[in-house]
Amino acid sequence: MGQYDGKVAMITGSGSGIGRATAIIMAERGADLIIHDINEKGANETAEKVKALGRKAKVWVADVSNVAAMKKVVAEAEKHYGKIDVLVNNAGVASDRCPIEGVTEAMFERSIGIHVRGTMFTTQAVIPGMKQRRYGKIVNISSIQGTVGHTEGSTYNGAKGALLAMAKGWAKEFAPWNIAVNVVAPGHCMTPMPMAKDSPEVLAEEAKTVPFKRYGQPEEMGYAIAYLCSSEADFVTGQVISPNGGYIIT
Ligand SMILES: NC(=O)c1ccc[n+]([C@@H]2O[C@H](COP(=O)([O-])OP(=O)(O)OC[C@H]3O[C@@H](n4cnc5c(N)ncnc54)[C@H](O)[C@@H]3O)[C@@H](O)[C@H]2O)c1
Repeated sequence: MGQYDGKVAMITGSGSGIGRATAIIMAERGADLIIHDINEKGANETAEKVKALGRKAKVWVADVSNVAAMKKVVAEAEKHYGKIDVLVNNAGVASDRCPIEGVTEAMFERSIGIHVRGTMFTTQAVIPGMKQRRYGKIVNISSIQGTVGHTEGSTYNGAKGALLAMAKGWAKEFAPWNIAVNVVAPGHCMTPMPMAKDSPEVLAEEAKTVPFKRYGQPEEMGYAIAYLCSSEADFVTGQVISPNGGYIIT
C-alpha cells in the first residue's frame, strides 16, 4: 500500500523543477496526478514520467494567473477524476531583481498575478469539493525570500510573503472541514529557474552563502511537500517547512 493510494493530487506548474519532482514522488507513493502548467511540452514530459510509474496523469495547460481558465481546469479535473484531494500551489516565476525605482506596474502585476492571484483563485476553485468531502491537503510554495527578503526583490518578496500569510489564515478557516494548509519555503534550489537567470559562476558564489555549501535538489523540496500532503501530517496545519541547507535557522 502506498501512502497516496486512491489520492488525486493537483500541482500547478508541474511541468518543471520542484513541481515535477513532487509529482513523481507522489506518483511513486500511489497518487494520480493533475499536471498543470503554461508550458505544454514540460507538462507532457512530467505526465509521461508519472504514467511510467503506473499512475494516471492528465495535462491541463493554462496561465495560473487567469482566474476563469483555472476555474475551468479545476472543474474539468474534478469531473475527470471525481475529486481533488491535494493542491500544491507551486507555479512561479523568478524575481525581477530590480531596485524599487525601476519596478513597473507590469512587473508587479506579473509577480502578484502568478503567485498571489493564481494561488488565491485556484484554491478558491478547489475548496468547495474539499469541503464537501471533508478532506483536503493544500501546500503553498513560498520561498526563503518570503520571510527574510532579498535586496531589489520587491515584487517577489511581496508575493512570497503573501503566500505564507494566506496559508496561515486558510489553515484556521478550513480546519472545520478537515482541510490542512501548510507552506514549503524552499531555499536555493537547482531548477531551471535560477539556472536561466544566473551564470554557473554566480550560482557557485551563491552556493557559498548556504551553510551546506550547495543548492538543494528539487526532490529535497518535493519530499517536504509530499510529507505535508500525506496522512503522516494529519495533525499538521498552518506550518512552514523550509528546506534551505541552514540558510535560515529559526
Ligand atoms: N528554485 C529555487 O531556488 C526556488 C526557491 C524558492 C522558491 N521557489 C519557488 O518554487 C516554485 C517552483 O519553482 P522551480 O524552481 O521549480 O522553477 P521552474 O521554473 O523549474 O518551475 C516553475 C514552473 O511554473 C510554470 N509557470 C510559470 N508561470 C506560469 C503561469 N503563468 N501559469 C502556469 N504555470 C506557470 C513554469 O512553466 C514552470 O514549469 C516557484 O513558485 C518558485 O518561486 C524556487
